[in-house]
Amino acid sequence: MKKLRSQAWFGRQDRDGFLYRSWMKNQGWPNDLFQDRPVIGICNTWSELTPCNAHFRDLAEYVKRGVWEAGGFPLEFPVMSLGETQLRPTAMLFRNLASMDVEESIRGNPIDGVVLLMGCDKTTPSLLMGAASCDLPTIGLSGGPMLSGKFHGCDLGSGTGLWQMTDQVRAGTMKLEEFFEAEGSMHRSKGHCMTMGTASTMASMVEALGMSLPGNAAIPAVDARRNTLAQLTGRRIVQMVKDDLCISRILTREAFENAIFTNAAIGGSTNAVIHLMAIAGRTGIPLELRDFDRLGSSLPCLVDIQPSGKHLMEDFFYAGGLPAVLRELGEAGVLHRDALTANGQSIWKNVREAPCWNRDVIRTFAEPFKASAGIAVLHGNLAPDGAVIKPSAASPSLMRFRGRAVVFESIEEFHARINDETLDIDETCVMVLKNCGPRGYPGMAEVGNMLLPAKVLRKGVTDMVRISDARMSGTAYGTVVLHISPEAAVGGPLALVHSGDNILLDVAKRELRLDVDGQTLARRRAEWTPAPRPNRGWLKLYADHVMQADKGADLDFLVGRSGASVPRDSH
Ligand code: FES
Repeated sequence: MKKLRSQAWFGRQDRDGFLYRSWMKNQGWPNDLFQDRPVIGICNTWSELTPCNAHFRDLAEYVKRGVWEAGGFPLEFPVMSLGETQLRPTAMLFRNLASMDVEESIRGNPIDGVVLLMGCDKTTPSLLMGAASCDLPTIGLSGGPMLSGKFHGCDLGSGTGLWQMTDQVRAGTMKLEEFFEAEGSMHRSKGHCMTMGTASTMASMVEALGMSLPGNAAIPAVDARRNTLAQLTGRRIVQMVKDDLCISRILTREAFENAIFTNAAIGGSTNAVIHLMAIAGRTGIPLELRDFDRLGSSLPCLVDIQPSGKHLMEDFFYAGGLPAVLRELGEAGVLHRDALTANGQSIWKNVREAPCWNRDVIRTFAEPFKASAGIAVLHGNLAPDGAVIKPSAASPSLMRFRGRAVVFESIEEFHARINDETLDIDETCVMVLKNCGPRGYPGMAEVGNMLLPAKVLRKGVTDMVRISDARMSGTAYGTVVLHISPEAAVGGPLALVHSGDNILLDVAKRELRLDVDGQTLARRRAEWTPAPRPNRGWLKLYADHVMQADKGADLDFLVGRSGASVPRDSH
């Protein structure tokens, strides 16, 4: 075994060795633990303000069991935890900040290998980004989805059910008392969102990338097998340290392509696009927006799960989970079978005999749930650097649509005007939202799936074309064009759209076009003025350095990795 990195702290017979060991001994650790034992950092995003990760202290104990069994020395440490539902203005504003916390916490401490405890949406990409920038042996463990929501005898999915019921209340088909009664029914166990929202999508990405043990994506948080997986993960990371199996050997171009294939097959979140590009950016692997379209858009969606379908993650687990999907992809020739995974085996070896127990939930490649359902990437004069749409969650009848723009300059203006019965809008219009991108919001909030006007809902209309530089929740649905780049706040063409302009969306041709002549656009550009930038703190650093959505919205100076060389002594 290669000399352990942690021995640069604990293996010293000098004043500094005393300093590194002695203060740790206040926790009661005996001396032999400091002698040539792989030190496993358990990077924990536990927080009571991140309800999806609130059970992580318990989960970490199972990881520790495995680490002890395998002869390692587990040390749990906290990092910034990002709760999607509580953190304002948006958890995404802090993804890159959390990734810096992870990177520096790993590099600066006596750690030989890392277990990443991830759950709620942004906790997964931030931990992967930070760990990838260090490049130690690393394995991921997701916290698992909640049990299915149940309300009035029916399934109720995280987020998805909320958007649906909100529309029902506004359309007058659901009483407000019933709406609030559903609060306790939707989220009734530990775990993260149990639709194929961003958390479940990213947990699936972790597994598809090979960054976890097989089965990570779908085991419910409260199922005893989640704890078993945690224990096995603890055992495994110790061997990964002994084998010097660093994250860079797993996160290869092939692994990212497997993730793109998988995201299409599960009807995954549009947020996976932005997160995978940011993670790839830390590894130095070129991954472009066009790759998602080229590799994924023609693939079918195999999983009938909300928001694209009707089932929930619990059903997905009972049906066989992600291994059954990966097997379908592998048999169809849409998987890099040799990609190495965290258990030391190829991804194909892990899944080639994975059973499917319910074809209503996980369909075959030959008879999929939805054809050609992967993320489509649009370009055109309204999105020179690209925009995305999720066809599996959109209305087929709106995939080619020309309409009159109704523009909202900010989310506040949208909220103030959308319920105004005199607003000149109907289902033939295109709703346009500006200034919600990385720099504009700031943080690129999940506001792109704008509520429809109540007067349109009352007609029984359930979808309209909506376009913006924002993101949307992975639990959301509709014909929603997102991530328009460049965003309005940096002067992208979106900034120049006025109400009354004509906009063409043609998903088959991958086009998003603003039908306004060049002279008019030039005049509008001359009149456009950018909003002032923040002048202190994290907001300033973020606004000065955040890249656009088509580059993953990471900070420009965080691209690439710095490795895990041992820093100089502290005293
Ligand atoms: Fe945490 Fe959905 S809010 S996973």
